[in-house]
Amino acid sequence: MTAISDVTDLRIEDGIAVLTLNSPPVNALSAKVRTGLFDGITAADANADAKAIVLICEGRTFIAGADITEFGGKGPSGASITDVQAAMQNAQKPVIAAIHGTALGGGLEIALCAHFRVAVPSARCGLPEVNLGLLPGAGGTQRLPRIVGVETALSMMTSGRHVPAAECLELGLVDELVEEGALRSGAIIFANKVLSEGRPLRKVDESNEKVEAARGKPEIFEKFRAGIARKTRGYLAPEYNIRCIEAAVNESFADGLATEGRLFLELMTGEQSAAQRYSFFAEREVWKIPDVARDTPQIPIERVGIVGAGTMGGGIAMNFANVGIAVTLVEREQEALTRGLGVVRANYERSAKRGRITEAEVEARMARLTGSLSIEDLADCDLAIEAVFENMKVKKEIFADFDRVMKPGSILATNTSALDIDEIASATKRPESVIGMHFFSPANVMRLVEVVRADHTSNEVIATSMALSKKIGKIAALVGVCHGFVGNRILGPRQAQANELLLEGAMPWDVDRVLFDFGFPMGPFAMSDLAGLDIGWSKETSKGETLRDVLCEMDRRGQKNGRGFYDYGADRSASPSREVEAIIRDFAARGGKELRTISDEEILERCVFPMINEGFKILAEGKAIRASDIDVIWTNGYGWPVYRGGPMFYGERAGLDVVLNRLRELQKTHGDAFAPAPLLEKMVAEGKTYRELGY
Ligand code: CAA
Repeated sequence: MTAISDVTDLRIEDGIAVLTLNSPPVNALSAKVRTGLFDGITAADANADAKAIVLICEGRTFIAGADITEFGGKGPSGASITDVQAAMQNAQKPVIAAIHGTALGGGLEIALCAHFRVAVPSARCGLPEVNLGLLPGAGGTQRLPRIVGVETALSMMTSGRHVPAAECLELGLVDELVEEGALRSGAIIFANKVLSEGRPLRKVDESNEKVEAARGKPEIFEKFRAGIARKTRGYLAPEYNIRCIEAAVNESFADGLATEGRLFLELMTGEQSAAQRYSFFAEREVWKIPDVARDTPQIPIERVGIVGAGTMGGGIAMNFANVGIAVTLVEREQEALTRGLGVVRANYERSAKRGRITEAEVEARMARLTGSLSIEDLADCDLAIEAVFENMKVKKEIFADFDRVMKPGSILATNTSALDIDEIASATKRPESVIGMHFFSPANVMRLVEVVRADHTSNEVIATSMALSKKIGKIAALVGVCHGFVGNRILGPRQAQANELLLEGAMPWDVDRVLFDFGFPMGPFAMSDLAGLDIGWSKETSKGETLRDVLCEMDRRGQKNGRGFYDYGADRSASPSREVEAIIRDFAARGGKELRTISDEEILERCVFPMINEGFKILAEGKAIRASDIDVIWTNGYGWPVYRGGPMFYGERAGLDVVLNRLRELQKTHGDAFAPAPLLEKMVAEGKTYRELGY
C-alpha cells in the first residue's frame, strides 16, 4: 500500500490499482482531496503492475460534492477538479468509480469522468447544486444529458433529486450494481471483467447521440420551464441549469463547457447562492445545542399518544405512523375521533393515488394508529403530545391527566403555538418532562418543528425531542418560552404593520403583491382569507373596532364563503374587492388618518425591518440560540424565500446600519413600534457580526 497523501492511498490488488479516498465526514472535494486524487490517479496510471484503476471511498459516502466551505474563499489551490477529471478520462487503463452512500455534485461529476461506474443498491447519485443556488460547474451540465438524455437531465438538475442506484442503472448512469457491503471486491471483479472483455474506454464527452436527439426542439425546454415555473418562482439557479442543458444540445462540448463556466460564476458570485449556501449550513447547525451534549442519553420512543384528533393532531400522528412508530389518538367524542381518523386515511389515500406510497403502505400506516376516547389509554406511551385548541385551562387539565396517567420518564409535550409552557408544566409534578413541540399546519407536510424548552425541561427530554423530530423528517429549532415563541413572535410585528399600512392608504393587494414579489408564497391578507377571518371572532362580542371585525360583521369571512379581503371566483381566483376598498377607506377616515400613496419600498421596509428588529430582541433574551436558527424557522415554517436566507441574514446583507437608521426614522414618524432593539444598536456601534457576538 502506498500513501499518496493524507487522504488517499493506493494499493495494487489482483493487478487492479485501488485508489481509496478517506476525508471525513463526506469526502468533499477540498484542495487536499483534489490533489490526493490527482496524484493517486497519475500514480496508478503510471504503475506497470496495474491494469485498471478503481476509485473508492471510505466512510459513509462516495464524494458528496465540492467542499462548500471553500466557496467564496481565497480561490482554488492545489489540483482543480478539472485536473482530476482529465487524469481519469485520459488514463491509459480503465478507470472505475465505485459508489456507495451518495455521489453528489462534484462527486458525481468526477464519477462521470471514470470510464465505468458501479454502485451498491443503497447508493444514490445526483446533481443537487440547484439547492445551493448553483449549477454543476465541473462539466456535469454537459455530461449528464449525454448519458441520461435531455428530459431526465432537466428534471434531475432542477430538482437536485438523489436518484437511487437501481434507477441510475436503468438510466445508464451506473453500469452495474454490486452486492451491498461488497463494493470493493465487486468493483475489482467488474474491473477484471472489463479487461477480459476488452471493453473500450468510454468517454462521455464524445457521446453526442442523446443531446443531438433534442436539437431543433426548443419546445422541450419551453414545456419544461412552464412545468416548474410555479415551484421555482424567484429562483435563478433552475433557469441557469436549463440554459446549460440547452447549451449541451446546441453547442459543441467545448462551447457548452464555456457557457457552464460563465453561468456558474455568475451564480456563485450572486446573492441568491450566498443565501442558499448559508441556509444549507444553518439547517445543519440548528441541531447543535451548546449546553446539551451530543451524547446526552435519549428516551426510547416506541409509542406516542396524541390528544386531539383535529387537523393538527391528525397531521402530527401521521408523521409518527409514517416512520413506524405506533400512535394512540385520543378524542373526547367518538364522532370527532372517527372524523379525525377518516381525514388521516383520506390523506394517505391521496398520496397513494399520486403514486407516492402503495396501497399496502396506506394500510400499514393506518394499522399503527389506534383511536381512543380515554386519556387513560396513554399509560404505556413514551411521549404524549397535546394538540387541542389554545386554552390554558383546558391544557392544564390535560397535563394534570398526563401527570396522573403516564409512566415515569415519559415526555409530556404541548403543541401550543403561543401559551406559557412553564405555566402548563406547573399542572404536573414533573416539569422536567414537559416540553413544547410546536408543529406547523399542515403538520404532515410542513418541515418545521419549534422545540420549546421550558424552565425545568431536562436535557434528556430536549435531546430526545430533537432526535425524534429528525427521525420523522422534520427540521427542529430549539427555542425558549415567550409569547409566540420565535416564529409567531416575529410574525406579530409584520402583521401589525400590514394592518397599519391599510389605515394609511395601502390596499391589501398592494401589501400582498409586495410580499409575494419578495418571494413569500402569499401575502398576509391572502393568508388571512385562506385561514378564515372569523377565527377567534364572535358575532356576539364584535364591536367593529378593527377592520377584521367590520369585515366579519359584513359576512366577509374569507375564502370559505367567497368573500374576505378579496372577492373569490368559483375557481377560487382572488380579485381586489371594491367593497373592501370602500370599507377600508371609511374605516381609516373614522380614525382621522389622512390617506396617502405608499411606495412598494416603504411597504417592504415597514413589514420586514420590524421582523429583523424583533429577531434581535429574541436573541438578546436568549429565546433563540443563534441568528441562523431564526432564519431556519422562517424559511421552513413561514415561506421566507430561501434565496433571501431568512430575516437575520437579509438584515445583515442589507446592512444592519441601513436597517437601524430606517427604524430610527420610522420611530420618529410612526412611534415606538419601530424602537430599535438595543442589541441591533450594539452590533452596529461595534461593527460586529452575529457570530462575533456569539449569536
Ligand atoms: N462540503 C462541505 N461540507 C459538507 C458538504 C460539502 N459538500 N456536504 C456535507 N458537509 C458537511 C455538513 O456540513 C456536516 O457537517 P457538520 O457535521 O459539521 O454539521 C457533515 O458534512 C455531514 O453532513 P449532513 O449532516 O448533511 O450528513 P447526512 O449524512 O445527513 O447527509 C449528504 C450527507 C447527503 C452528503 C448531505 O450532507 C448533502 O446533501 N451534502 C451536500 C451535497 C451537495 O450539495 N453537493 C454539491 C456541492 S456543490 C458542487 O459540487 C459544485 C460543483 O459542481 C463543483
